[in-house]
Order: sequence, then C-alpha cells, then structure tokens
Amino acid sequence: MTAHLPQSLTARLDALPDGLRAHVERVRGIARELAMTHAIDPATADLTAAAHDVARHIPGRMLIEEAERLGIPVNAVERAAPILLHGPVGAAWLREDGAIDDPEVLEGVHWHTTAHPDLAPVGQVVFVADKLDPMKQKAYPFQPEVRAAANRNLHEGVLAFLDGALRTHVERRELIHPMSAETRNSLLIALSC
Ligand SMILES: [Fe+2]
Ligand SMILES: [Fe+2]
Repeated sequence: MTAHLPQSLTARLDALPDGLRAHVERVRGIARELAMTHAIDPATADLTAAAHDVARHIPGRMLIEEAERLGIPVNAVERAAPILLHGPVGAAWLREDGAIDDPEVLEGVHWHTTAHPDLAPVGQVVFVADKLDPMKQKAYPFQPEVRAAANRNLHEGVLAFLDGALRTHVERRELIHPMSAETRNSLLIALSC
C-alpha cells in the first residue's frame, strides 16, 4: 500500500535530482515490503521512506547553516561530515511545512542515517530499507547479511548494518557518529536480555 503524499512533500520530491528520486522510489518499495513482513503499517513506512532524503542534495556548508537556522545542535562529527545532517534538516523542513505531524515519521526521517536507540519500528524499517537499495551494493557489500537479519527481526537488521558499517569506518579510519555507537550498544544489550 502506497501512502497518500502531502502536496508539500510531492513538491520537495519533484525538486530532487533524478538519481536521488529513483533511490527514494526504490527505498519506498523495500520499506513497504519489510513493513509487511513485520506487520507494520506499510503506508506509514512508505510515507517515511518517501520523505527520508528531502535534504540529501543540499551541499554540506548549507546543511550546517540550515541546522543552525533551525536550532539543530551540530556535534563535532557532523561539523566534519555535514552530510550526516541531511536527516535532521529534512525532518525539520517537513515539520516547518506542517503537512506531516506523526512523530514516528519525523523521527524516522531525522535518524535514518545514524539510527537512534529509541527508533520506532517504522523508523527501523526505513533505516534498513535505505541501506538495502541495490545501488548501494558496492558501498555495503554486507547487504545480504543485513537483509537476512532484517527479515528475521528488525533489531537484528539494524544491528547487522551498524556492525558492517562500523567495521568499514574503522578499516578506512572514518569517523563514527556517536548515535550509531549508542544504538549498537543499546541493541546488543536489548538482544542479550
Ligand atoms: Fe539519506
Ligand atoms: Fe536514502
């Protein structure tokens, strides 16, 4: 089931570059399918997926300026890698537009890059679906493990992605967002109980 998209969101999607719009469409399909596997409302997952990258095309310096204008705190990792701010900025734009007020949708958009320990199932679906885009196979060669884990259990799917991504970041000496580390710790503790 596809969601009815508010007009303000459709306008934002129309403004995205073609490649990004195609990515968003693929993520919507994966999110709806994953939502149905886990008995989560596919229309809410679809709406969150449709909205997740509305700020992905904004250059880094502008993302920092927008975050500051919108009162979003910017940490040292985000300042060094401003692309990490496209979720928070996108969610704030959608809140400003006033057409989406479901906190699970807005939080799903906000945290879709780093994850968050308190992410609702719909946000976990979109987090994982975004990473399972077949066009990201090169960036995430561990996609099959993420897919298998996510089909079993969403917590395990998020954890499988974070494990793979953090391993890659360490190998490449890249920064790790503190919220990704916090989410991984929280999932490991929850899954061991
Ligand atoms: Fe994104
Ligand atoms: Fe995305």
